[in-house]
Amino acid sequence: MFSGSGAARFLTYLFINREPFSPAMGEEIFRDMEPFRIKMVEPIHLPSREDRERFLEEAGLNVFLIRGENILIDLLTDSGTGAMSDRQWAGLMMGDETYAGSRNFYNLEAAVRDILGFEYVLPCHQGRGAENVLHTALIKAGDVVPGNTHFDTTKAHIEHKKGRAIDCTIDEAADPYLDLPFKGNLDLKKLEDVYKQYGREKIPFTVVTATCNSGGGQPVSLENMRKVAELSGRYGIPVCLDGARFAENCYFIKKREKGMENMPIKDIARETAACFDMMTMSSKKDAIVNIGGFIATGSREIYDSVKNFGILFEGFVTYGGLAGRDLEAMARGLYEGIDEDYLTYRIGHVRYLGEKLRNMGMPVLWPPGGHAIYLDMKEFLPNIPQDQFPGMAFCAHLYLESGVRGVEIGTLLNGRDPDTGMNRPAKLELVRLTIPRRVYTHRHLDYVAKAVKKVWDMRDSIRGLELTEEPPVLRHFTARFKWVE
Ligand code: F0G
Repeated sequence: MFSGSGAARFLTYLFINREPFSPAMGEEIFRDMEPFRIKMVEPIHLPSREDRERFLEEAGLNVFLIRGENILIDLLTDSGTGAMSDRQWAGLMMGDETYAGSRNFYNLEAAVRDILGFEYVLPCHQGRGAENVLHTALIKAGDVVPGNTHFDTTKAHIEHKKGRAIDCTIDEAADPYLDLPFKGNLDLKKLEDVYKQYGREKIPFTVVTATCNSGGGQPVSLENMRKVAELSGRYGIPVCLDGARFAENCYFIKKREKGMENMPIKDIARETAACFDMMTMSSKKDAIVNIGGFIATGSREIYDSVKNFGILFEGFVTYGGLAGRDLEAMARGLYEGIDEDYLTYRIGHVRYLGEKLRNMGMPVLWPPGGHAIYLDMKEFLPNIPQDQFPGMAFCAHLYLESGVRGVEIGTLLNGRDPDTGMNRPAKLELVRLTIPRRVYTHRHLDYVAKAVKKVWDMRDSIRGLELTEEPPVLRHFTARFKWVE
């Protein structure tokens, strides 16, 4: 088959090019590709331009009000939108639907103890269910709850109990382009000032959200969490982890924090949890389930104080508003969420979109978050004033051009000042492109990048929006608009 010199050339080729076939290179290539095979698919389709215009019109220009089936790629949220594994689906078939003492509850409890080290686990139907139970038990009127840019539902629950959230995030987080490894960190000086001003009496707990969703999906370092724990311990103030994306946070710690590069993710999760008295969890994120959550704590006293509210709001202590099968999927998902190959792919996948957009010259909040890419609307649509909702205008055009759905995280979400009735202009006027777990491929993200670029190229012709219908609370979900003349 090979002539003498042809065979020699072939051998030389093999020799010179042997690298791609060596195991080390294989691992290198594997690093951020999808570490799974796809054995079930859900078709998606792009409605015609005419239909997209009609759907958007019918939705009052608010993409929240468009039916899911009319969206091509849905980047509204990473919450409950992930794809479960075959093991999780198999777990659904193993649901023990006993009212009290379901086998699946004990599997969940064992998983939480094993991964996070918390002894007591109270299942809840989702993250805000856990917040409602915990906050009802611990917060009284006039209290303050410091933290690092509390998530909306956390803040809303604190306010619902007549308390107040105080943001103690580091100042650097407000700069959308400052490339720091841990932009979710708390400023210890700010935190101590709050402790000094209000004292243990008025501070039921401090909450650390890791990664910090409202701050751009930015991580919190282990060093910072340890210092928060130490400081809070001195003041006798308990600390709560909002751990919806704790596994993604652990991965950032492993990759970015000095001395952590060789620690297994599971150990980092343990070290993280050891900084906290309790945790609320929306399992719809890092436990990769479509519904579920829990409260976990090492303290018998805290568990006893929350469990009756758990029964009141969510259901008996071994099911918390969930079916046995949901608990099983959650127990299995917790392990999948901390798998290092999965996390390498996950964080790399999100970064892939961020880098692509940035290389095209798009204003992307930097560094990329763990679960989403955030676009800076003050740069993208500088001519649209904040009270004409540039983020909503962008989302409307992104849908029209491509069928992709993003979400505004800006002035519409921020609502109105209760005293003056004026729109509260957001410090960071953002659109979030949130990546569901294990759902879209890199090719889908290529499409998204092209779609964003298309809107970028027509940005000078984009007009702002004017409200035509505005609900008094949480207006972003159902508000309706028209284009400004
Ligand atoms: N905490 C964080 C940090 C969150 O991001 C969320 C939800 C919750 C708590 C509440 O959990 O939805 O299960 O009740 N975030 C979703 C989002 C809704 O789109 O970012 P939940």
